Amino acid sequence: MRNDNLFPDDFLWGASTSAYQVEGAAEEDGKKLSQQDILNNNPGFADTHVTSDHYHRYKEDIALMKELGLKSYRFSIAWSRIFPEGAGIANDKGVQFYHNLIDELLKNGITPIPTLYHYDMPMALIEKYQGWINRQSVADFAYYAKFVIKEYGKKVRYWLTINEQSIIVQFWTKKCFIPEQYLHDEQIKYQINHHMNLAHAIACKLVHQWVPNGLVGAALGYSAIYPLTSKPEDNLAAQNANDLRNYYFTDIYLKGHYNQSALIYLQNHGLAPSIEAGDMDLIKEGYSDFLAINYYCSHAAAAVPKNVPRRMDGFNPTGVKGQIDGHEIQPDFYQIHKNPHLDTTDWDWTIDPIGLEYLLRDLHTRYQKPLMITENGFGADDYLESDKAIHDEYRISYIEQHLNAIKRAMNYGVEVLSYNPWSFIDVLSTSNGYKKRYGFVYVNRTDDEIKDLARYKKDSFYWYQNVIQTRGGSLTKP
Ligand code: BG6
Repeated sequence: MRNDNLFPDDFLWGASTSAYQVEGAAEEDGKKLSQQDILNNNPGFADTHVTSDHYHRYKEDIALMKELGLKSYRFSIAWSRIFPEGAGIANDKGVQFYHNLIDELLKNGITPIPTLYHYDMPMALIEKYQGWINRQSVADFAYYAKFVIKEYGKKVRYWLTINEQSIIVQFWTKKCFIPEQYLHDEQIKYQINHHMNLAHAIACKLVHQWVPNGLVGAALGYSAIYPLTSKPEDNLAAQNANDLRNYYFTDIYLKGHYNQSALIYLQNHGLAPSIEAGDMDLIKEGYSDFLAINYYCSHAAAAVPKNVPRRMDGFNPTGVKGQIDGHEIQPDFYQIHKNPHLDTTDWDWTIDPIGLEYLLRDLHTRYQKPLMITENGFGADDYLESDKAIHDEYRISYIEQHLNAIKRAMNYGVEVLSYNPWSFIDVLSTSNGYKKRYGFVYVNRTDDEIKDLARYKKDSFYWYQNVIQTRGGSLTKP
């Protein structure tokens, strides 16, 4: 066992954002709306039109990234900024924006890690054929991906394909614009996922074809899942949950086939995707070079009593602990429970650094591929003091514990290339607007008031700066 406490010299210390949550300019310079400009428009919260105004302030933001010491920046490209109609003629100003962003990053010694798709399908394609529900989406995604990969491929080595297919399946009606008539047809979400698997495979092939030394993988929302008790039936339920929630995705990316138990479960329940001849060959050809993980929390699963209806994961709309509105149930397979051994954030997300260590070890054993962390972070209603300080010691504690967990996994031989916590700067939360912040940099706005959007460094900014400078040497070990 290697006991070196320091992270490797070439470790990519980074941070993350996504286009529609940080850029603003939702309808500027030729960009047209994406489905998230509609879906993430929640009453009582900010909408996507301004968010953190990164579109206009990217230079100021990259100067802050440089000051923080970032070696990588994971962001996403807005499909509807490049192709406002989803396909057809590219929007020059949108194309130029990402050239400017990438050039500015490179000038400052920061490795760009773009994601091709972060929930934001162009509305034009929803209007044309209902988006990902329709198989035509795969061809249009391929058209977009080819353009983008060829356009920026000389400057960008690491590519992420699709953000969080697992979460898209779990919260399909929030992450995809689903027409009324399909809202109760749960097979659709597995069909959408199958189309995304094809899109992912095509993007992997394109990176391998067009990017010299290019490396590509998906960014998967991933929770470690434990048995709620040591009862054998709960252990089996946890295995079922891992198969359906985790390996159903990772086996596709890294082995090129659907996880068998999960697929049989879906077939038995009339939920399996329809798969056309040639699809599985394409999925095999589009192999991933690494797997990127978005990790926030773990779950506990137990056996489910008979005749309990299916339901999706719970959600806490208020930020008052304990107000989560239930947990996922998969009839005859498993149900998710609150883990009595773990504390949570105010939004009822468990805090479990060991869960990250556990899943990194597990994924390494299963697939023997390099891993990357593309999200991990602590959402909180941060407070701006009168002297403009933000004392976010809870975030420091969370990230410190998770970095220690990553290092322990690395000391057992797991290859982790990069850590990109969510988020570099405060962004519009997918569920709770600006009431739930994640950034190292505070943005002076609220949901109700756009204010001056000034940037202020939180305590976590200075803390992370020191961690990066010392290659992890300043981390307090448990
Ligand atoms: C991930 C998403 O699921 O979680 C991000 O990729 C998101 O887009 C993040 O912002 C945190 O979730 P939320 O709902 O707190 O914004």
